[in-house]
Amino acid sequence: MVFFGKKSPITGKQNARKTTGLKAASTRSIINKYHQLNKRKLQLQGLKKRMKKAEEQAKEAEIDAEITQIDSEMEKLGGLEVYQKASLKGQDQTRGGDSSHVLLKWLKNEGNELALEEGQEKKLLEVGCLSVSNAVSKSTEFDTIDRIDLRSNDPLIKQQDFLKRPLPKSDQEKYHVISLSLVLNFVPVTADRGKMLQLTTKFLHPQGLLFFVLPKACVENSRYLDGELFDSIMASLGYEKLEETTTDKLIYQLWRCRQEKAKYQKFTKNEVRSGSTRNNFCITL
Ligand SMILES: C[S@@+](CC[C@H](N)C(=O)[O-])C[C@H]1O[C@@H](n2cnc3c(N)ncnc32)[C@H](O)[C@@H]1O
Repeated sequence: MVFFGKKSPITGKQNARKTTGLKAASTRSIINKYHQLNKRKLQLQGLKKRMKKAEEQAKEAEIDAEITQIDSEMEKLGGLEVYQKASLKGQDQTRGGDSSHVLLKWLKNEGNELALEEGQEKKLLEVGCLSVSNAVSKSTEFDTIDRIDLRSNDPLIKQQDFLKRPLPKSDQEKYHVISLSLVLNFVPVTADRGKMLQLTTKFLHPQGLLFFVLPKACVENSRYLDGELFDSIMASLGYEKLEETTTDKLIYQLWRCRQEKAKYQKFTKNEVRSGSTRNNFCITL
């Protein structure tokens, strides 16, 4: 597959975007283009790393040129800042709403109780956080909410890559609930997706809960992932599914972490569905 040497914009027509007044269609378009560019950039960087032979190294300049083109297209879209604003728009009630409403509703259901020990504060870690005024932030459900994102837009959101977050040194640094809503699909490297899921188990108290949201297409129309395989990956990490619901576009799930049940099987990239209209979303572990 040749990625480099492209002259026309990688994601088609480009327009400078304003950061406000985004329409639903342009919100979706920014999010999709940003994902495509991010993924292509990672592919090129990986390709560059694997190049060893002298003749391959000659192609490096072409790859660098395409990476520069991608950076400039991302910049024209408005960068991560506008991507996040587009995602925030997607959280508007009119466009599907803030996913933390679903978490709050599920926490009330029998069987989904938090495993709190005496004297413990109820703690939530929100990974990939765009807003400090979503439903869960307005509720009194948690004593502490820690929020992180690759790019912080508020002092209450720590700028941090979850994949690089130092592991908890004590129980006090663990959480009763982790929210991973529409983040895994943003991670461009398949092995990092598996690593991200595995890491959640390290940050949860025993029997902690993972609230997980993913675009439906990642599971229902992928060449390399279906619901059964995803459930097996989660079961291998020790997760038991408590809740699941789907909308037109999204899958919401609530999982309980039982690390004692983890089997840590290996999951590689294998086709589970064929067809030319499939996407290539994949998780390896
Ligand atoms: C589509 S937004 C989702 C925001 C919100 N959780 C929601 O459900 O609407 C994805 C966010 O995840 C963040 N993100 C992606 N990878 C991340 C990582 N490794 N660590 C922390 N945040 C990450 C991105 O910066 C982006 O702000």
